Amino acid sequence: MTQPSKNEPRILLVKSGGEAAIDEWRSHFAHFAATESPEAAGLDVRWWNDASVAPEDVAYALVWQPDAGRLAALPNLRLILSTAAGADHITSDPTWPRHVPLIRAVTPEAAQRMGEYVSMASLALLRDLKRSVRQQAERRWHSFETERSATDTCVGILGLGTMGVRSAEMVRGLGFRTIGWSRSRKEIEGVECHTGNEALPAFLAQCDILVCLLPATPETDGILSAERLAMLPRGAALVHVGRGSHMKFDDLRAALDEGGMSGAFVDVFEEEPLPADHPAWAHEKIFVTSHNAAIASRRMRARFFAAQIAAFERGETPVGVYDAVRGY
Ligand code: NDP
Ligand code: OXD
Repeated sequence: MTQPSKNEPRILLVKSGGEAAIDEWRSHFAHFAATESPEAAGLDVRWWNDASVAPEDVAYALVWQPDAGRLAALPNLRLILSTAAGADHITSDPTWPRHVPLIRAVTPEAAQRMGEYVSMASLALLRDLKRSVRQQAERRWHSFETERSATDTCVGILGLGTMGVRSAEMVRGLGFRTIGWSRSRKEIEGVECHTGNEALPAFLAQCDILVCLLPATPETDGILSAERLAMLPRGAALVHVGRGSHMKFDDLRAALDEGGMSGAFVDVFEEEPLPADHPAWAHEKIFVTSHNAAIASRRMRARFFAAQIAAFERGETPVGVYDAVRGY
């Protein structure tokens, strides 16, 4: 990666959070440049739709779902900063400038928040929280037992990256038997790790609760197919926090209605925002959340990106560079 000379324009264009968030971004970037990442000092932080910005003066862009064609129209762009861990919201634009390094957000805070979501969902599914919610809505006092405890329940995590590893540590800490699956071999204390497509059927056959924390790539497209959901043990549940492209909702609905699955938390959908008339909203076995399982604070994202801009300006390779060959 070639670093910019000091005389080149250093506008950081920020889309995430809109115009209302720009003062907050500016103050976080200034703080972390002053305290930790001196090479990021003097960045001119501007809003994505600031009409006074000349496209040729933009060096960095921090974005979530940039409008198609906009990144390609920034001729001196040095780094694309993805405000999310996934990069698909950028690479789905066929015109995205592939010669510009794309940095994915990798923050311990987002991983912690994902671990909290996966823990919450696993416990809620284990203890049939839906049933208690229904009973409360009906003002019906009825004491019920659930079948199992965490110690005799297996949580299986697809994807053992930043998000998957922290989630595995946290659910294991709750007492769940924890297993994981990834492309390359992993060793994680207390977590039985599986690798590769051949291992997937045997992995799925063990998962009482299946968690999807994979990126959206051509290989993972449709990975939670009806056929794969049918490989889960009877009564299994799903925590889907990966991407909408991993699953067709109708396959999950059929598995819940007729295929013996017991429940699901779904945070990501094929179409987002989820339309008001989508059947997931009213399904008695599904908890819907609005793609907010693990959003890191602006402060922590600014800290991470100030550090990566500083590394880049020192001529070092930033953390979290998107790998076009792997697709994540
Ligand atoms: P990482 O890149 O750190 O981890 C990705 C993991 O998936 C790695 O373990 C990787 O294997 C594995 N993987 C990728 N492709 C395959 C494959 N074909 N077969 C088996 N394993 C595969 O990403 P993060 O952990 O940071 O994030 C993962 C995903 O989680 C994001 O891309 C996004 O889709 C989702 N996410 C959702 C959020 C939400 O709020 N709903 C928030 C954050 C992330 P290997 O280790 O061998 O490379
Ligand atoms: C992410 C997300 O990828 O929020 O970080 O979905």
